Amino acid sequence: MILADEAATARLGAAIAGRLGVGEAVCLSGPLGAGKSTLARALVRALTTVDEEVPSPTFTLVQFYDGPRLKVAHFDLYRLANPDEAYEIGLDEALDDGAAVVEWPERLDGRLPPDRLDVEIEFSGEGRRARLTPHGAWEGRRLEV
Ligand SMILES: Nc1ncnc2c1ncn2[C@@H]1O[C@H](COP(=O)(O)OP(=O)(O)OP(=O)(O)O)[C@@H](O)[C@H]1O
Ligand SMILES: [Mg+2]
Repeated sequence: MILADEAATARLGAAIAGRLGVGEAVCLSGPLGAGKSTLARALVRALTTVDEEVPSPTFTLVQFYDGPRLKVAHFDLYRLANPDEAYEIGLDEALDDGAAVVEWPERLDGRLPPDRLDVEIEFSGEGRRARLTPHGAWEGRRLEV
């Protein structure tokens, strides 16, 4: 889908949040500046509150949020040294009782959560283009953006 501006990226994040369930991941890939954090922030805010602070977990790698309907963990794996480390910082535990939004899922070397939505973002003119690929529980699920 075409994301003409930042607001469109945020709307997509909120729409995904509305369909997200326990044990599921949203994997965001794309180059530096593609809009991964913009989408993740909107997704977290849709599950918590609109003015929730959602800093990029660049150094901590993960930030946990407690939404009233769903817990969500925000991972930024850019600085991950090896895939095992993602499980050390709590990816499996996060999925036990909540959802996860993951930036730089490439760092997991293909060891991705089975129930997930992959969102690949690329630059397209002034805006962005997103390709959504559902896996497992996400297959056939409708998204209204
Ligand atoms: N659809 C869009 N069209 C145009 N600009 C956008 C769009 N979505 C997000 N942006 C803008 O792109 C910039 C980079 O966004 P963001 O920080 O979310 O990217 P990122 O993928 O997390 O980058 P990094 O990998 O460097 O952390 C921001 O200024 C944001 O407002
Ligand atoms: Mg970012």
